[in-house]
This record gives sequence, C-alpha cells and structure tokens, in this order.
Amino acid sequence: MKITVVGAGAVGASCAEYIAIKDFASEVVLLDIKEGFAEGKAMDLMQTASLNNFDTKITGTTNDYSKTANSSICVVTSGIPRKPGMTREELIGINAGIVKTVTSNLIKYSPETILIIVSNPMDSMTYLVHKTTDLPKNKIIGMGGALDSARFKYRLAEALNAPISDVDGMVIGGHSDVGMVPLTSNATRNSINVSEFVSKERLEKVKQDTKVGGATLTKLLGTSAWYAPGAAVSGLVQAIACDQKKMFPCSVLLDGEYGLNDLSIGVPVILGKNGIEEIVKIELSEADMKHLHESAEGVKKTNNLLAL
Ligand code: LAC
Repeated sequence: MKITVVGAGAVGASCAEYIAIKDFASEVVLLDIKEGFAEGKAMDLMQTASLNNFDTKITGTTNDYSKTANSSICVVTSGIPRKPGMTREELIGINAGIVKTVTSNLIKYSPETILIIVSNPMDSMTYLVHKTTDLPKNKIIGMGGALDSARFKYRLAEALNAPISDVDGMVIGGHSDVGMVPLTSNATRNSINVSEFVSKERLEKVKQDTKVGGATLTKLLGTSAWYAPGAAVSGLVQAIACDQKKMFPCSVLLDGEYGLNDLSIGVPVILGKNGIEEIVKIELSEADMKHLHESAEGVKKTNNLLAL
C-alpha cells in the first residue's frame, strides 16, 4: 500500500517515521515545496531502516505530485504551524489556500484516495476539503481527537500516578484550546471510573491541562509539537490500511449526528478500509453535550472565515 505525506516538516516527517517503523505500508512518499527537503528527510529516514527493522520504502519529492499517484491514503500536514501565543484559528488565512491547492493536486493523481487532514485550524480545514472536493464524506478525516485523547491519557495517568496503559479516555469536540471536550465522566482505570481515584478538582485540572496541551508544548518548543501528532496520524493510517475497525475520535462531517449539522468536528468513529466506516453515537452527559454544542459554535465561527 502506498501512502503520501504532504509536508516534510516536523509533523510530516514524524508521521512518515512512525508509519515506517510499524512496517505495514510498502511505500511512503514525502512531498514538500522546499527544494530537496523531502528528499533529504526521506534519505535520512531510509538510513534508519536497517537499524529499526522496517522494509517500508520512503521516497521524497519536491512538489512533484505525479510521484504520489495511486496513493491509498494521503496525509496533509502542510501549512504554517503556530508560534507561542497564537491560536490554531489564527492560521486560517494562509493555511486555507495551501490546503485547497494540496488536496486538489493529490486527488488529481489519486482520485480514490482517503485524505487525513492535520493542518490547522484542523476542523475548518477538514470542512474546507469537504466543500471544495468531490470525495465522499467517509474519505475525508480530520486528525485531532486521537492526539488530544493521547494527551488526555497522559494527564490522567499523571493525576492517578498510574502507568498510561492502565488508563483510558477520549476527547471529542473541536481541536482547539477552548473547543476540546475531554470526557472525564467516561474515563477509566482498568474499567473503573477515574472519579473513584481522584477528586473532582483534580479531574478538572486534568481537563484544563488537556485542552491547552498543544499550547503548552508550543510555548516550550517555540513551535507546535510533532511526536504525538505524528504518532496519532500513524495510528489512523494503520487502522485504515489494515482495516482494523478501530475507534478514534476524528473530525468528520456531521449530518444530524449529536444534533449537529454542516460542520466537521471530533466525534467517535470506526476506521477501516473505507475510511470512516461508522460514526458512533454514544450517550453523553448533559454537560458534555452542552460543551460539544458550544464547541461546534466556535468551529462554525471559524468556518465563517473561510471564503467559501
Ligand atoms: C497540536 C497541533 C498539531 O495540537 O495541532 O500539537
């Protein structure tokens, strides 16, 4: 299976690296507009193959979309990342134009592809792709919730003083500092609700720390994070490529689900060979449903900034 990753920056390169290390794809094509950059990243990554025991062939190209032809899955990470103090929403002006051009070029050479959108503001970029391409809605997936849920689990494990593999939890809603809805009331440690182990106040802190997870890293790093975003994308790619039917919160076009319409926002879905196999409807508490709807309002406000 051939997979393309557009943008050989930190997120794109990490994504290619994690896909290769998991060794389920025959080929990963990295594409970037910066002359020689994707070729260099691809060569460097290929020189880890014998060390990390993978056979995935990684190649790089400077903006030649013909090299991406017949990709089953294309990941779009292109665009500018945020700087400290910036919100994801502030990137919309520049990134919308980039995402539109990139996706139309990808579809020209891979008309059957499934697209995973990572560029920020991710929910609005995913909506833009729905509005500006002819791909069916099961083939356009925004990556945010898988990353936010991983950050949520990190914070839960920290609060419970537990290993991360002991905890489980999910974040739905928009991929923004205010829009995320970490489902603390559904989070568990070995199937026991986390509220049995930590106070309400501590859980509230977990929630807040999760919501600003990306901003915290941007402040520390001077640019946005890449390891967890790359790993989260590789999880979605693997679920589709290997038809795993795994559940992830992803940003998908809603048509009445959760009482929401005409936007792309994070809700649980099943991923398999057709991309989104199913939108999963779970019972939400009244408070979480209210937060999801507030989050949707915020996403729609950002969508209004798109010149559609
Ligand atoms: C983050 C970016 C990828 O949350 O949105 O780190």
